[in-house]
Amino acid sequence: MSRRKMIYEGKAKILYEGPEPGTIVQYFKDDATAFNNQKKATLEGKGVLNNRISEYIMLGLGRIGIPTHFIKRLNMREQLVRQVEIIPLEVVCRNVAAGSISQRLGVPEGDQLPRSIVEFYYKKDELGDPMVSEEHITAFNWASTQEIDDMMAMTLRVNDFLSGLFSAAGIRLVDFKLEFGRLYEGDMVRTVLADEISPDSCRLWDMETNEKMDKDRFRRDLGNVTEAYADVARRLGIMKEHGQAPTNEGK
Ligand code: TMP
Ligand code: ASP
Repeated sequence: MSRRKMIYEGKAKILYEGPEPGTIVQYFKDDATAFNNQKKATLEGKGVLNNRISEYIMLGLGRIGIPTHFIKRLNMREQLVRQVEIIPLEVVCRNVAAGSISQRLGVPEGDQLPRSIVEFYYKKDELGDPMVSEEHITAFNWASTQEIDDMMAMTLRVNDFLSGLFSAAGIRLVDFKLEFGRLYEGDMVRTVLADEISPDSCRLWDMETNEKMDKDRFRRDLGNVTEAYADVARRLGIMKEHGQAPTNEGK
């Protein structure tokens, strides 16, 4: 398919060497996995939708001053991003109880949380991405205290921005997961938002019906996964009313 050098293949994306030093091409696959790779499927069109949705969100975040790795979308499945050193943490922010917080702490799914809660998970598939505290993060040098502060502050700003964006589209932002990277510029290092933000990494519920519009449709075998992602894209105004994402590439 391509002669570019592959750098890394993840569960839902492939990273290739970019055209300039310090750049990477992020290719969005149609593959979906859940429960640490125990459940797998190919969902036709998912990669195209996540590429568009993530582009739209990263651009919006950039406009409000949140530094991200995003440079530009290249085509239906690829985007150009800055090469960063990924901080080995998944940062989860929750507004409404669902998923693991409901299981772990017995908070009924759907309960509004007393305030937004930020959690850190150590990115380590072999261990099933365990939850960790700031003590673990600094003791094992996964991130510095300054980086933790930066990630926490950016996560809360992302939460405010996304909550508003989705709420205007009739969607409740239940929770989401972010990843951050270190961007080296000369002898400076900056913490920037990396990876993707899409229905794969958020819980999104229809505000009126509470219907799930995210990867829980796949995790819980609810069906119509890509249809729900397409509905998210449509409501955000990214996709045309009917049919697939616009194909006017090259712009
Ligand atoms: P959780 O309730 O399973 O901990 O998930 C919290 C949020 O993080 C939810 O929006 C899904 C997202 N998430 C990922 O993007 N990747 C993951 O590996 C996990 C476990 C969760
Ligand atoms: N645990 C991830 C999820 O459920 C995917 C995976 O690890 O396979 O979102």
